[in-house]
Amino acid sequence: MAGDYVLAIDQGTTGTTVLIFDHAGALVGRAYSEFTQHYPRPGWVEHDADEIWRVSMRVVGEALGDAQISARQLAAIGITNQRETAVMWDRNTGEPVHNAIVWQDRRGAALCTELSEAGNDGMVRDKTGLTIDAYFSGSKIAWMLDNVEGLRERAERGEIAFGTIDSWMVYKLTGGHAHVTDYSNASRTLLYNIYNLEWDRDLLNLFRVPDEILPEVRPSSYVYGNTDPGAFFQAEVPVAAVIGDQQAALFGEAAYTKGLAKNTYGTGSFALMNTGPEPMKSEGDLLTTIAWGIGDEPVEYALEGAIFITGAAVQWLRDGLGIIKNAAETEELARSVDSNDDVYFVPALVGLGAPHWEPYARGTIVGLTRGTTKAHLARAALESMAYQTKDVVDAMEKDSGIKLPGFRADGGAAANGWLMQFQADILGVPVEVPEITETTALGSAYLAGLATGFWDDRDELAAKWKLANRYEPQMSDEERNRLHGRWKEAVERSKSWARE
Ligand code: G3P
Repeated sequence: MAGDYVLAIDQGTTGTTVLIFDHAGALVGRAYSEFTQHYPRPGWVEHDADEIWRVSMRVVGEALGDAQISARQLAAIGITNQRETAVMWDRNTGEPVHNAIVWQDRRGAALCTELSEAGNDGMVRDKTGLTIDAYFSGSKIAWMLDNVEGLRERAERGEIAFGTIDSWMVYKLTGGHAHVTDYSNASRTLLYNIYNLEWDRDLLNLFRVPDEILPEVRPSSYVYGNTDPGAFFQAEVPVAAVIGDQQAALFGEAAYTKGLAKNTYGTGSFALMNTGPEPMKSEGDLLTTIAWGIGDEPVEYALEGAIFITGAAVQWLRDGLGIIKNAAETEELARSVDSNDDVYFVPALVGLGAPHWEPYARGTIVGLTRGTTKAHLARAALESMAYQTKDVVDAMEKDSGIKLPGFRADGGAAANGWLMQFQADILGVPVEVPEITETTALGSAYLAGLATGFWDDRDELAAKWKLANRYEPQMSDEERNRLHGRWKEAVERSKSWARE
């Protein structure tokens, strides 16, 4: 074994987290930093890819310092990332040609509506497992090709590379040598056929995307190349995993067998159920997606409920309204009121994802009275996370015919005991929170460790999963149905508010 540690870079929507694990799976070093969010217009969200790279390398340096090790002691690096966010750069200079267009950005909605109305939904779903929505990369790439002057011609001449954030990070880490992505990230572009594992001609034509810009697609657990010592702390370390963050969390939760499910509470929340090597088609509300590919093994699939805004609703209470100082305060505020007093907050701040797929929905608060306080708003924001999760779990059970026996929860808000109890109450099944809730980084570290022989197999990894807290449902069926019924009424009011 070349090194004693695995380092995971989790490049997320609002920040980069770097974690370092030893062979026992213990966390020995960590660092985190936020980076700038750009909102050039209502409904638009952009990131500066160069800033993402700079901040990420600073965070790697801090995590190495925290672990008191040098980069030469690393056996492997795993990359995991905010998915769908699209970056394009010049292959010669490595310069991004435009800010990255973030998964939350709605500017592709008109194109998606047009393609959908032209009758393409069935074809797209049959090839990609996805719904035609501005969430995915396809319409973001189309927008850049059509709006950045001269870009389409340069792309057709082979001068431009497209990638999701993982591609960008690997390109930079390898000193510009590798232009790659993995199955899980490719499966979120709307351009990739998840059944025959190829970029798809019909889809490329539909979004008018030239093949010249596409990265090569590889397994999630696979040695992509070594870091360039000039770019990465004077060390040559194998980059040995690339995986979308939600699939990584499923792996980090040791959900290796069909029917196991998790929900990660981050900016948004993403409930995924492992469906094994056979993709499971959804009736239309959920996504069929690639979970991961491990070396030469057949790829495995997942059914996904993508909820766009959960933790970001709390962030909005903090940054937009200024009624709380930090996210942790919401727990005490929620406990300080006996009930929600019929106040509901539908956080459709970037439209609604699964199971509604409503790009024109907007954030809606209903039930305000003169007695309403910030405690009600905090409670309503937390409750909305649980209701949205219930909506996608209901769809998941309908699609799969599998009644979930329980549910593993992770991500930042898994630390909120009030929310976890309310989640168990609203779902009517136990919610289990593991010791390491940063399962996203953990999953990519595991996959990098598997690719390099640092860890042997999934059994060894599954044995590392440790329960920290289990929340049993305590609410009556009647109360659950009443609350969830009112939530559904509030959701209907949020729909079709925006005109464009
Ligand atoms: O699909 C978007 C998802 O990958 C973003 O995850 O954790 O950055 O909110 P997160």
